[in-house]
Amino acid sequence: MTKITQKPTTALYPVPAVMVSCGTGAEANIITLSWVGTLCSKPPLIGLGMRPSRHSYHLIQQEGEFVINLPSMEQAKELDYCGIVSGRDEDKWVSCGFTKSAGTEVVVPLIAECPVNIECRLRETFSLGIHDLFIGEVVAVQVDETILNEHGRIDFDKAKPFAYLDGEYRQVGELLGTFGYSR
Ligand SMILES: Cc1cc2nc3c(=O)[nH]c(=O)nc-3n(C[C@H](O)[C@H](O)[C@H](O)COP(=O)(O)O)c2cc1C
Repeated sequence: MTKITQKPTTALYPVPAVMVSCGTGAEANIITLSWVGTLCSKPPLIGLGMRPSRHSYHLIQQEGEFVINLPSMEQAKELDYCGIVSGRDEDKWVSCGFTKSAGTEVVVPLIAECPVNIECRLRETFSLGIHDLFIGEVVAVQVDETILNEHGRIDFDKAKPFAYLDGEYRQVGELLGTFGYSR
């Protein structure tokens, strides 16, 4: 294998593609994010990399809460749309035909059409560079009961997740193994 050295970038792939809802009432907004990752299991913490120029940035700071809505393949187009249009210019809930539903622990609305909604409370904000890091603590998770298997776990064939790879949205493929299957 011959390797070509490329300039340093965030070359990591695949990364998630999620829609984060933020703000409340008439100010409620949706932003698409890929710079998103699990940081800690106990307490459950998730990090979001967001540019301060985003309309959503100040809504998250203002409310101190946000919801990470995990889309299925059916919402891929809406996810892209929420990543190219700003809530400053239009109401993305209306444009995407999304329904606001109430969370259990946060006042920020969830996207009802997404099969999984992760309710988060903002714990810390760090300035990194062109992106800032929001660290949210998960306070509740809502899962569509129709994607759960008999053990109460998510059936990914039903959840139909997809990922983001350097500008492309790609569906998550076939099962290769399960945790610990190598031994
Ligand atoms: C697939 C995808 C991933 C994105 N990931 C991020 C991200 O991680 N951080 C960020 O600040 N912007 C990201 N964006 C850009 C914002 O979603 C975009 O600027 C959006 O229009 C901002 O919306 P707002 O102004 O309503 O907050 C992404 C866009 C797309 C399409």
